[in-house]
Amino acid sequence: MWNLEKELMLPSPLVSINLPLTIEKNIHLYIKREDLIHPWVSGNKWRKLKYNLDFALQNNMQTVITFGGAFSNHLYATAGACALLGIKSIGIIRGEIDHQNPTLKFCLEKKMTLIPVSRSAYREKEASKEIQDIIQKYSDAMVIPEGGTNQLALKGAGEIWDELNHQLAIKPDYVTLSAGTGGTTAGLLSYNNYPTQIISFSALKSDHLEEDILSLTSHKNREKLTMVTDYHFGGYGKWTEELIQFIRDFETISGIPLDHVYNGKAVFGLLKMIEDDYFPQGTTIVHMHTGGLQGLAGLEYMRNKI
Ligand SMILES: Cc1ncc(COP(=O)(O)O)c(C=O)c1O
Repeated sequence: MWNLEKELMLPSPLVSINLPLTIEKNIHLYIKREDLIHPWVSGNKWRKLKYNLDFALQNNMQTVITFGGAFSNHLYATAGACALLGIKSIGIIRGEIDHQNPTLKFCLEKKMTLIPVSRSAYREKEASKEIQDIIQKYSDAMVIPEGGTNQLALKGAGEIWDELNHQLAIKPDYVTLSAGTGGTTAGLLSYNNYPTQIISFSALKSDHLEEDILSLTSHKNREKLTMVTDYHFGGYGKWTEELIQFIRDFETISGIPLDHVYNGKAVFGLLKMIEDDYFPQGTTIVHMHTGGLQGLAGLEYMRNKI
């Protein structure tokens, strides 16, 4: 089924990053450029959608229904992937549809049907009558949860280990990444057969994200997970001028763009931890760049609106 796979940059490149800070602290830092996998279906979106879309195709499901907010990377990637595969896509959106919003514009260009629902219905998802009524209209549809997180997504994320294994002669001491629903972290944790520790930076204020991750993995490898909750910059989708400046500076010095919702926050936190000597000298760290760069157009759009 994966004609699409020929178009993807896999394995995603692993690049070594030398910053004055990493040199001073003798830290071997790598970034796995999952953001380069595909312009539309990048980063963890590819990993999480791969087996979901495979399931839809194998079972002759002609439609995919999923959920997202106005700037959702998941909606963007689902619209892109379904267009490439010839599957109909439906995006259930929280709140109104702003036709100038670059993410939603892209989804519409890729022929995703966008259906706005009330915020209360969106919160309840499949349990709400409003959403049930929509889903029932499409008897041949596969429903993929918000953020694409389910066991099929975990399996896709788990494949990153095979790539890393071939790309790096030694096992990294740490893999770091950003978490929203926690599905990508859960996939890496669940399929981690190495002593590597995983540090997951929460992109939002949550007192249950760690528990959500552990319940997805049935508590497998729980001793290999550290959650860091100090770098959400005010909450999901929030940003500060300090964060935006950091993202600009990081791109100037490393050549790597970061998004402001996930990777900017996580890399900010990671460099702060390096600066604070959290890691012993000689530590090898791989940060997973989970993509999300389409969101930068949304940031620009929002900043111009303010
Ligand atoms: C770019 C990006 N990075 C990280 C995440 C967080 O992934 P997860 O929801 O699997 O924790 C998301 C959301 O899915 C995302 O879009």
